[in-house]
Amino acid sequence: MEEKKFSETSRKHYMKGGDGPDSYARNSEYQKQVLISAEDLIHQQIDEHLNIQIPRFDPQNTFRIADFGCSIGPNTFYAVENIISPVKNKYEKSNQNQTPDFQVFFNDLVGNDFNTLFRNLPSNRKYFVAAAPGSFYDHLFPKKSINFAHSSIALQWLSKIPKEVIRRGISKGRIHYLGGEKEVKEAYAAQHEEDFGRFLNARADELVDGGLMALHMVGFADGDAFSLSGIQIEYEILQSCLEDMVELGKITKEKVDSFNLPHYFPSESELKALIEANGSFCIGKIAKLALPARSKLGPKGLTLQIKATLGMLFEEHFGNEVAEEVFKLFLDKLVERPALLDHKYWEHTIYFVFLKRKGVN
Ligand SMILES: C[S@@+](CC[C@H](N)C(=O)[O-])C[C@H]1O[C@@H](n2cnc3c(N)ncnc32)[C@H](O)[C@@H]1O
Repeated sequence: MEEKKFSETSRKHYMKGGDGPDSYARNSEYQKQVLISAEDLIHQQIDEHLNIQIPRFDPQNTFRIADFGCSIGPNTFYAVENIISPVKNKYEKSNQNQTPDFQVFFNDLVGNDFNTLFRNLPSNRKYFVAAAPGSFYDHLFPKKSINFAHSSIALQWLSKIPKEVIRRGISKGRIHYLGGEKEVKEAYAAQHEEDFGRFLNARADELVDGGLMALHMVGFADGDAFSLSGIQIEYEILQSCLEDMVELGKITKEKVDSFNLPHYFPSESELKALIEANGSFCIGKIAKLALPARSKLGPKGLTLQIKATLGMLFEEHFGNEVAEEVFKLFLDKLVERPALLDHKYWEHTIYFVFLKRKGVN
């Protein structure tokens, strides 16, 4: 193995572990709906693009799948079944190739609660499992060893807050680029360009020639990056809760100024440009997914979902007690203004991106 540098993020970019009432495992139904809405597309794309002569190099006839940013479950199990089923169908229809064994690698940051994930593996699964801990912005597998790479609602997490934002303090008074100054947005976009480029480079090395990749990514429609969206509303309410905590004397303004959310939401044209610049993949499809209404979650459900996803970051920066209070305030604000749950605000875009590693037709 070549000497590789692993850049494990020290920040708590992972989800709330365990299977308690505020865990990600119990508050990720919305993310599951994204997988459900992509189900037909994945089946079609696999049928169209999978070359079952691959892996020719593999005498064990094993089809290897990696789910990048798998979290704790149970969504990742659903995602994996949704890949295995059309792959199997394709082999069975061919009558020539023996159906392979399946091996699934679950990837997430080392701080992810892999214990809960492995405790809850479906008992009737028909695949072998292994963990692949580490940042998906690094290389995680040997060259040409993976047949199918998958990632859902994970690539909006940048590897870090852009250096410029911290060095120049340009996002003081805001916890994110949405609704902020142009230069802050540009710094986030540059960080995304670097990170997504690293993700594509690593996967290009790890996938077999003709290997497939399906991504579900949160984004904005082209030209829509500054319109009022659910994500922006969510972040502005969180910010106002932090401001309330400053007024209450529980945290300092400086502490809030030094807090930024490490998320970026690209547009379709940004994604296309980055994939084309990388040059290792053919684009099978980029499509927008229809999304279920978040308003169905109600104020409590939405607060729990956001807390399960972002809570660890708040705990890391402000401590547990403050984080708890922030999310209580957040819930109060949603209860006071339930109009904020209206579907029109929460229709942000999820892109389904299907790619094929160049090298074999
Ligand atoms: C919102 S969850 C999505 C989980 C799952 N894919 C689903 O659909 O429910 C995002 C996941 O990405 C993981 N993640 C964030 N940055 C990562 C990185 N650099 N490398 C690996 N995983 C990362 C987080 O730890 C988290 O588990």
